[in-house]
Amino acid sequence: MSILVTGGAGYIGSHTCIELLNAGYEIVVVDNFYNSKKESLNRIAELSGKQFAFYECDIRDAEGMDKIFKNEKIDAVIHFAGLKAVGESCQKPVEYYDNNIGGTLTLCDVMRKNGCKKIVFSSSATVYGSNNISPLKETMQTGGTTNPYGTTKYMIEIILSDLFKSDEEWAISLLRYFNPIGAHKSGRIGEDPNGIPNNLMPFITQVAIGKRECLSVFGDDYDTPDGTGVRDYIHVVDLALGHIKALEKVLGGTGLDIYNLGTGTGYSVLDVVKAFEKASGVKVNYKIVDRRPGDIATCYSDPSKALEELGWKAERGIEEMCEDSWRWQSQNPNGY
Ligand code: NAD
Ligand code: UFG
Repeated sequence: MSILVTGGAGYIGSHTCIELLNAGYEIVVVDNFYNSKKESLNRIAELSGKQFAFYECDIRDAEGMDKIFKNEKIDAVIHFAGLKAVGESCQKPVEYYDNNIGGTLTLCDVMRKNGCKKIVFSSSATVYGSNNISPLKETMQTGGTTNPYGTTKYMIEIILSDLFKSDEEWAISLLRYFNPIGAHKSGRIGEDPNGIPNNLMPFITQVAIGKRECLSVFGDDYDTPDGTGVRDYIHVVDLALGHIKALEKVLGGTGLDIYNLGTGTGYSVLDVVKAFEKASGVKVNYKIVDRRPGDIATCYSDPSKALEELGWKAERGIEEMCEDSWRWQSQNPNGY
């Protein structure tokens, strides 16, 4: 079985490549290194002890993608490639719609022309918008996204659903991730953000290692137990394993399914700071500042559908997530 992994050099993609190789799949990786480094691919090979095909290609390049499908026998696609920074998407909406939606349309077109109709897609909890009350269930209404990034995920879900309605030979899995953190146990691969991190955990680890002075906690007046925002943090290896289960399902038949990939437990910003300090033994300097525009108070999943239908559940707790994030950061202070 050969699986095309778009965006396989990135954070979630690299961890998923390892689990795919460990599970005995052959993989073909495509990435344009817009937000990743070639070194991550060397480390996937090192950790798995396996070689794999790689193509440096933009998924919007229809000809380039077609060549990959002609060269390789692709059974299914796991589609991570996309731009993901919420703030940046407000500054560069055209680039976000072009890359995320344009890229997915080109990919689907090349897939169907080559007779490959199985895809697992990286969606996001952001599609639930701000009006649903957690725990979030797959049956809840989506939309009302507050930034172009979130809107691309919402629109791609609609596009893939319409594709399935038009041709029920497709097998499509829409995975709504909650907040991935953590890293591979080896400390050899992890999240390597460019510039100032937007997300909580890479910011915390960079403060802990001395690259940044102080964490700004965005608001302590939310309606949550300690006033700071609550999220469903999930270990990236658990997330990667969720992809293997979703892949098995699309390989096994046709249909369109949507799954939350989360733990079902919410932690506040200050809970995460405390858990990180405990796991690393390092004090994290922080200050409370104003709320960040667009943030919601609370967001966590009901992950029961993935357990019932895929037999998947997140196994790794917040302490392990913090330990593994810290191991990656401390062993690779400047990333790859
Ligand atoms: P990432 O930026 O680390 O990985 C994405 C990869 O895709 C990068 O290697 C990048 O170079 C590549 N890429 C981007 N555009 C491309 C293009 N046009 N052609 C080829 N390659 C391209 O991000 P990640 O955190 O690993 O996220 C993977 C996917 O999961 C993304 O679609 C993201 O939107 C989604 N997601 C991420 C989170 C999160 O918090 N990390 C949450 C929900 C959903
Ligand atoms: N936070 C801080 N300080 C920081 C960064 C974050 O206090 O420097 C807080 C936020 O206010 C929020 C929590 O930490 O309460 C988590 O923030 P992140 O930026 O890490 O994550 P978000 O929940 O805002 O968004 C993430 C991804 C999105 C995705 C969403 C839902 O960045 O791409 O989860 O899946 F859409």
